[in-house]
Amino acid sequence: MLAYQSSPVQKLVTADAEINSFILPDEKNLDKKTVDSFGDEWSSFHSFDDAEIEKIGDEYFDIVKENQLNKNSLVLDVGCGSGRWSKYVASKAKFVEAVDPSNAVYVASKLTSNLSNVRVTQAGVSNIPFANDSFDFVFSLGVLHHIPNTQQAMQSCVEKLKSGGYFLVYLYYRFDNKSVLFKLLFAFSNVFRLVISKMPHGLKKIVCNLIAAVVYFPLAKISSLVKNIFGEKMQQKIPLFYYANKSFYIMQNDALDRFGTPLEQRFTKKEIEKMMIDCGLTEIVFSAQTPYWHAIGKKK
Ligand SMILES: C[S@@+](CC[C@H](N)C(=O)[O-])C[C@H]1O[C@@H](n2cnc3c(N)ncnc32)[C@H](O)[C@@H]1O
Repeated sequence: MLAYQSSPVQKLVTADAEINSFILPDEKNLDKKTVDSFGDEWSSFHSFDDAEIEKIGDEYFDIVKENQLNKNSLVLDVGCGSGRWSKYVASKAKFVEAVDPSNAVYVASKLTSNLSNVRVTQAGVSNIPFANDSFDFVFSLGVLHHIPNTQQAMQSCVEKLKSGGYFLVYLYYRFDNKSVLFKLLFAFSNVFRLVISKMPHGLKKIVCNLIAAVVYFPLAKISSLVKNIFGEKMQQKIPLFYYANKSFYIMQNDALDRFGTPLEQRFTKKEIEKMMIDCGLTEIVFSAQTPYWHAIGKKK
């Protein structure tokens, strides 16, 4: 466990824990509506199947090697949400500091309560309460595209890394490796997001559950069928094929994430690579597998 660099603004007391909060009234580089929406999302989705989390975790961490993350590693999870990836990483690392600015910290704290090497803290990316150059491994999965200035947010993450440490990031892709059909479908679906994300949480959840049932689930099943008949290459031409081996719970969660969030940005592989280089990362490796794009880089 690392020492905090400053004193917490307040302590959030729960039945099982005390969570230190460093959220400032004028928190920088944070979209309040988006953060509140995630607080609601993670209080609805927190009962993940352990085996499924291991399987999906392996997809995000497929490019991470033993010399980059191991039992000696001090790890920082930026935008931990429910804490599922902190839980996944806990068995592979020495200690995991998990931060998130939303009320998801209550969920994350509960999910990791039986892990002695995970601490959850409420903080935004621009005010992470640890000294610069203190972590061996920093990761941020599905977070930085929900932040107003993604480049600056990435810089804030990399600052926390020791020289020679590694940064793993997953950012929504701009369909740069997909056909025009995918791009058009995305533009169409984005109109729905702009409407749905403004709804109150209860209604948003109902609508997103419906989308999971009538869009995600059938496309996932069709893509499985296509894979069985025509193989993996053809399967990848079906939108949402990523969900072929995922549970309906994950589809519901991701539909809410995708359509319920006010701020989302998308990036090409080239743009992400440039951001990483500009942050002082080197030896950048992108995974060729879904979810697109996730990449790792080493701090110079
Ligand atoms: C899509 S969720 C991903 C959560 C988690 N990484 C996962 O993959 O399960 C995005 C998370 O980013 C967090 N977030 C939003 N703005 C942030 C900011 N300015 N600093 C740090 N985290 C932020 C949200 O609170 C939310 O929990």
